[in-house]
Amino acid sequence: MSNIIESHNLSKVYNPDTIPVNAVSGVDLEIEEGEFTALVGPSGSGKTTLLNLIGGLDYPTGGNVQIGGVDITKMSENKLIDFRLKNIGFVFQAYNLIPVLTASENVEFVMLLQKTPKREREQRAIDLLTEVGLKDKLNKRPSELSGGAAAACCSCPCVGIEAPFYPC
Ligand SMILES: Nc1ncnc2c1ncn2[C@@H]1O[C@H](COP(=O)(O)OP(=O)(O)OP(=O)(O)O)[C@@H](O)[C@H]1O
Ligand SMILES: [Mg+2]
Repeated sequence: MSNIIESHNLSKVYNPDTIPVNAVSGVDLEIEEGEFTALVGPSGSGKTTLLNLIGGLDYPTGGNVQIGGVDITKMSENKLIDFRLKNIGFVFQAYNLIPVLTASENVEFVMLLQKTPKREREQRAIDLLTEVGLKDKLNKRPSELSGGAAAACCSCPCVGIEAPFYPC
């Protein structure tokens, strides 16, 4: 199997000009297509920083990241935004649901950006929310959901888009 993600000598230094923090130092990573990988470590060890780098949410201060053979660290911000939209499904630690949208509208949102036809995205949102036990909450806003229901709802938009890569 081929690697979907590779990093070489990946590093991130926060505040390089004041009080530098070496959050990620020289990480070489290989993740194969279809692989489920868990990243574990103590608080402050750099897990979120590493996920942000391999998910294209931040640029490294050294090394590179390749996703499907494409070096995302060389991309302009606009190209990276487009690449993320098409290729990466995020499940954020914080809920990141849009408060004015209903549960199903939240699930449809990324599919809308990807120009998925209306009928298809509506049906996919219903199917996904049903699968996580929220069939009766389709039209509820995030503030009307319990914490567990909001977390379950949060996992749906990323699966909805069928991205090849899901950092959580
Ligand atoms: N934006 C930032 N500016 C400066 N330092 C930062 C920034 N973000 C994180 N850090 C520092 O970088 C290091 C790694 O932080 P990171 O958030 O990646 O850790 P983590 O492993 O995800 O921790 P946790 O398990 O608590 O979520 C820590 O020392 C943290 O204080
Ligand atoms: Mg973290």
